[in-house]
Amino acid sequence: MTGIAPSILAADFANLQRDVEMLNNSTAAYIHVDIMDGMFVPNISFGLPVCEAVHRHAKKPLDVHLMIEQPDRYLADFRNAGASIITVHYEACPHLHRTVQHIKELGALAGVALNPHTPVEVLSEILGDISLVLIMSVNPGFGGQKFINNTYKKIARLAEMRREGNHNFLIEIDGGVNVENAGKLSAEGADVLVAGSFVFNSPNPTQTIEDLKIAGKL
Ligand code: DX5
Ligand code: ZN
Repeated sequence: MTGIAPSILAADFANLQRDVEMLNNSTAAYIHVDIMDGMFVPNISFGLPVCEAVHRHAKKPLDVHLMIEQPDRYLADFRNAGASIITVHYEACPHLHRTVQHIKELGALAGVALNPHTPVEVLSEILGDISLVLIMSVNPGFGGQKFINNTYKKIARLAEMRREGNHNFLIEIDGGVNVENAGKLSAEGADVLVAGSFVFNSPNPTQTIEDLKIAGKL
């Protein structure tokens, strides 16, 4: 499914139920859940109990982005906490094929994320096995950072690999997404746009989600 995936990293954690209900009543396609361990990335976000709590109220699929070392340790737990999509980082998985198979065996869709410096070509042998590629358009760890322009080139190259290989994975972009860059991102081949601060810091988040959807023609 294409569309907008607002990141609850930018929500008001003291009013999480209210913010999840806002997303339920919006045109968001997914709820993006950013898990950070303070090791793979220099920040700690939240963990399983918060993911479970969001899932209790969510009417949209949870798109869980694991920015953690050795994610294999927690795949089953995040599936049990309500993840529909589980995305692991290429840079954190020495046995990526095994990790992807494990996610699929758990009944979730498997995604693989790439840091800004990682070329899309490293995924060439696994593109047929996965449902989503997440291209980081900032260095993972924090919301509210500036979009890295080199991302457009990576999306175009990955979309070309998708066409050439006759694959059907989704291309998701995460970091610094706003109404100015949404159109160009989807024109290059992006299907899912994650947006944290741009949505939650706006005066009318529901409308902002719809604005992003229109700007990205998603
Ligand atoms: C960054 C996270 C992102 C983040 C995006 O490490 O993976 O999902 O929440 O936030 P914005 O949209 O504020 O850049
Ligand atoms: Zn994310």
